[in-house]
Amino acid sequence: MMAITVEEKTGVFHLQTDNTSYVFQVMENGELGQLYYGKKIHVRPQYPDLTIREQRNITPAWKLDKPDFQLDVLKQEYASFGKGDFRYPAYKLVLKDGSRISEFGYDRYEKRKGKQRLPALPSTFDEIGDDAETLTIFMEDKMAKLELKIVYSVFPHQDVIVRSACFVNSSETAVHLATAYSVQLDLPDDRYDLLQFSGSWARERHLLRTPLRPGVQSVGSLRTASSAQHNPFMMLARPETNEDSGEVFGFNLIYSGNFLDQVEVDQFSTARILIGINPAEFSWNLTPGQSFQTPECVLSYTAEGMNRLSQQLARFYRRHLLPARFAEKNRPILINNWEATYFDFNEDKLLGIASKAKDLGIELFVLDDGWFGKRNDDTTSLGDWFTDDAKFPLGLGHFAKQLHAMQLAFGLWFEPEMISLDSKLYRQHPEWVIHVPGRSMSPGRNQFVLDFTRQEVIDYLFAAISKIIEGTQLDYIKWDMNRHITEMFSTQLAAEQQLEMPHRYILGVYQLYERLTSKFPHVLFESCASGGGRFDLGMMYYAPQAWTSDDTDAVERMFIQFGTSYGYPQSMMGAHISDVPNGQTGRMTPMATRAAVAFFGIFGYELDITKLSIQEISQLQDQVKFYKKYRRLFQFGTLYRIDNPFVNGGNVMSWQVVSDDRRQSIACRYQILNHANPAYKRIYFKGLLPDQKYTVNNSVERFYGDELMNAGLFVRQLIDACKCASASVDFHAALFVIEAVD
Ligand code: GLA
Repeated sequence: MMAITVEEKTGVFHLQTDNTSYVFQVMENGELGQLYYGKKIHVRPQYPDLTIREQRNITPAWKLDKPDFQLDVLKQEYASFGKGDFRYPAYKLVLKDGSRISEFGYDRYEKRKGKQRLPALPSTFDEIGDDAETLTIFMEDKMAKLELKIVYSVFPHQDVIVRSACFVNSSETAVHLATAYSVQLDLPDDRYDLLQFSGSWARERHLLRTPLRPGVQSVGSLRTASSAQHNPFMMLARPETNEDSGEVFGFNLIYSGNFLDQVEVDQFSTARILIGINPAEFSWNLTPGQSFQTPECVLSYTAEGMNRLSQQLARFYRRHLLPARFAEKNRPILINNWEATYFDFNEDKLLGIASKAKDLGIELFVLDDGWFGKRNDDTTSLGDWFTDDAKFPLGLGHFAKQLHAMQLAFGLWFEPEMISLDSKLYRQHPEWVIHVPGRSMSPGRNQFVLDFTRQEVIDYLFAAISKIIEGTQLDYIKWDMNRHITEMFSTQLAAEQQLEMPHRYILGVYQLYERLTSKFPHVLFESCASGGGRFDLGMMYYAPQAWTSDDTDAVERMFIQFGTSYGYPQSMMGAHISDVPNGQTGRMTPMATRAAVAFFGIFGYELDITKLSIQEISQLQDQVKFYKKYRRLFQFGTLYRIDNPFVNGGNVMSWQVVSDDRRQSIACRYQILNHANPAYKRIYFKGLLPDQKYTVNNSVERFYGDELMNAGLFVRQLIDACKCASASVDFHAALFVIEAVD
């Protein structure tokens, strides 16, 4: 099968994956018209019925002799501004004379096997030979001497298409690129629900589903981080679509900064999707000879429901976005000292936790905030990335050696982008902090942000962090980012470049990530931004894991992890057991429930295990053993969502992971509150082999897969039945281990 078919005569481009088709065509005026994106259709030389030409009243036309060629009525691929399409444009260029009209016409195309990485941005790739093909459409504005490249990469077996755009200035004068989205997609109708993932700190990625309506609806960020408030991942689903059937599109931008995901329903009830860098804080001074590359956006479609969409995305990321050396690698069970000690620790205290962790079978010890400079609270030392001698009199290398001698891997916390006013670094380089000269600076968590547009800042951090990695033989880094940027300005950028700063900042972050991960490929990175405030594909490209949320309350985590699972695999979600009462909610949840929530991610601990009772210690031992036994299933199994906690009163959530051969599976049903005399309940499993016999929790009884999926399993509800594995009390979790038997 050819992923990309080009009909030279008609100018029709047909991108085909195993189950989808994406078709566009060069229109009469030279621009690109969108014809179709959805379930696979046959390749034909042309599709006259997909180009609707109806002349509408009071609508500008392209030319006097083409009254029925009206841009406002046509579906387009990458619409320009000011030529009669009054919907939001995909890009806007301001020329030297101040005019904002562009006339990019089709020039040529280029088709290549494979998919190359982008030089300065995280991007998809095909290094395993997955039959990816890349199509570049070259458009030209002859008068302005500008070139626009619209790039499509087709991953046929993943049902994914990746898009981006690149502007090249071949003229002798500078122009301003005021808007440059990564993708535009015009859909022929608006009968869709928008599914967004919004929230706040400690309440990240809650699912919200609302029908489209006329006008513009959007989610986005102006925080110079993808943010906890909104996530770049968005879905559009038919109103009848559920987890297991129906049409759904997924869009995810590979970017960690200001973004905008927008849907505009127009006068004719069509829907225009625009996704890319948020134009509200963007402009690029495109000087002669320079080009501007947008981030890539991942597009995926299925007619088989939202579980299928999430599964194909998870598989795609694993093969074509995650660092290959970690994509399939078992991730270690970690313990993090933050909630156990906060800033109050010394070597002995940490070693006490570490040796207990080793006894329990934990594999990685992560030393969080407070090991550097003179940092005993959050007012000092950010930027001073050298060991605090008071806490480590024999040096951090010595401490690391002791951990390694115990066969524990060693991880460290950094917050590279930040600076404290009370630091050696600030005293040496006050000019490195982001500020507007003469204006006050707004603190966030008592700290300020380094100007990552300055090469010397990145060079300093690269050297300082490298030295620590080398001196400790470091295995893991938690890269945190705990405030958003204010007074966005760089003293080293020209006035006309100041609006480039938000994007240049993120490019700086990527550059440091790129250099560190290239120099130390064995170091496992976990991204963090006050928990899940930068949980995006840009980060995933460098850091296979992310701290999902600072909220480790089991009940709240159910919602956070369930919402996150739509756009991101469980192998990205750091999930730890912490102490009760929970630090964020004050809630007491049973240890077994906290474990059952944390199992469905990258499992770990975040509490003082030296203070646990004998009974709790034995619970922890069992958890570690259980997780190790089923680690691949939890980290890389195919995920099926069963009961959605965001609907039906939000009292129940359940989901399930299934092995590739479908012979092993674990499901969990969580119930928040118990009710008196409740209704009968059954849980319906998914993804099993219909004709295969299985045991559930080592049952004597054997069930056929079709029975477990279609007839389901009875969930005991009554308090007197509490001894049963599936019985329910408040904050209760029932795990079902399903194993094939012959
Ligand atoms: C952030 C992180 C926490 C912890 C602290 C340390 O809040 O999300 O996990 O690392 O910083 O200061």
